[in-house]
Amino acid sequence: MTRQFKNAIVKRPSPEMVDGITKASLGKPDYQNALTQHDLYIQALESCGLKVRVLEADNRFPDSTFIEDISVCTPHCAIITNPGAPARNGEIKGMKDVLKEYYKNIEEIKAPGTLDGGDVMMVGDHYYIGLSDRTNNEGVDQFINILEKYNMTGSKVKMKNMLHLKTGLSYLENNNLLIAGEFKKYPEFEKFNRIEIDHKEAYSANSLWINGTVFVPKGYPGTKKKIEALGYKVIEVDTSEFRKLDGGLSCLSLRF
Ligand code: GLY
Repeated sequence: MTRQFKNAIVKRPSPEMVDGITKASLGKPDYQNALTQHDLYIQALESCGLKVRVLEADNRFPDSTFIEDISVCTPHCAIITNPGAPARNGEIKGMKDVLKEYYKNIEEIKAPGTLDGGDVMMVGDHYYIGLSDRTNNEGVDQFINILEKYNMTGSKVKMKNMLHLKTGLSYLENNNLLIAGEFKKYPEFEKFNRIEIDHKEAYSANSLWINGTVFVPKGYPGTKKKIEALGYKVIEVDTSEFRKLDGGLSCLSLRF
């Protein structure tokens, strides 16, 4: 059965975002433009029927607008992660109190396990979890044990190059999977209806399904056309300032 999201949680970018972690060579983000793009992202979520909770910016953590890495919200429990980048680890503080307003069951990944939510892709009751520079074996084992407690399942995906699993994959429901780069060769994704993303549009492999509509980053016409050809309504959302910090559409919210 296809999931339906009712809620989203986002966190406002802080002025310190200009010093966020990045491997992209695209220059520093423009903070005012990032705020405008964040406003439009929230509006896009609301246009799909979601109630959006907007958390205040946290000046201590430049990357904290990428809230997806901090928790994973399943239909049965919320899992607070233990982010793998030391500079981001403190972002989890306070999340328990926020999530308690929505969830009875709250779980946590504990050291020495590390896990970033960007490495988790939900496909029904099964979760693919990337072993990346941010997410380690112990973190994935803990995560799968938690899933099994609630009758869900998970499997590890050994990754090579990408920052996060969802840097190169997006599940659009109905067996449709956007797939880019190294993942095109991975046997575990052969069973999906794979929509291969061209190398020059690789960033748009991080698109976002929201209740039947797909958000696609602005400026990727090839990907947009492929998704529209599948019958989805598409909303283009400009994420240029977040891309400068290796962030994408999914990184900017928790959806449940
Ligand atoms: N700049 C986002 C991250 O590296 O996690």
